[in-house]
Amino acid sequence: MVEIAPSILSADFRRLGEQIATVEQAGASYIHVDVMDGHFTPNLTVGPFIVEWVRKATKLPIDAHLMIENPDNFIGAFARAGANMISVHPEATYHLDRTINYIRQVGCKAGVVLNPATPLAMIEEIITEVDYVLLMSVNPGFSGQKFIPSSLDKLRRLRDLIRMKFSSARIEIDGGIGPGNAAEVVAAGAEILVAGSAVFGAENPAEALREMLRIAESTGSGAKVTA
Ligand code: DX5
Ligand code: ZN
Repeated sequence: MVEIAPSILSADFRRLGEQIATVEQAGASYIHVDVMDGHFTPNLTVGPFIVEWVRKATKLPIDAHLMIENPDNFIGAFARAGANMISVHPEATYHLDRTINYIRQVGCKAGVVLNPATPLAMIEEIITEVDYVLLMSVNPGFSGQKFIPSSLDKLRRLRDLIRMKFSSARIEIDGGIGPGNAAEVVAAGAEILVAGSAVFGAENPAEALREMLRIAESTGSGAKVTA
């Protein structure tokens, strides 16, 4: 089953609650929150305080994508604020295994994120310990960037790695995803599609989300798409 996680990074924060309600009603499965610290990423965004407000606005699980250095310092705060899934970048923590365990201890699903230039080998030893792998198909920092085409091959290799290691990790893809490439990424193995500008930047976010869902569901994992 393919699921959509709209990223509020592209939402209109003047009416964040309404925007979240719109995508929830349209069939979103998660609310993706992009957390940036101005060090790991060339941008600053939101912290646990906003997650608390998102928590009040939706029943959907909150998918917190931490693009911050030393995420251990904030995992507890995000969990208390209402996050249900927390993902971290291996480059941002010294002891990834410990960080993953910590996310579990606070009662959240644990994810690991790979930047476009970060090799899959980085997560080989941890692939059986995580609930999901988030593959970045743009460099972290901003919404509205262009999908990096080599991500498709990386998705397929990630799917193979997960199978080979008998891992139950799910595959989430993030960056430049929209109706134009939803079918391709799903065919290559993506199960959760993050979409910022394609949903909240659209004239009708609900319709854009439903369109992506239709495309994704009609493709299904393993379906053949000619390049
Ligand atoms: C980028 C973020 C993404 C971003 C996606 O650093 O991790 O989640 O909001 O936005 P779009 O879908 O517009 O590329
Ligand atoms: Zn993200």
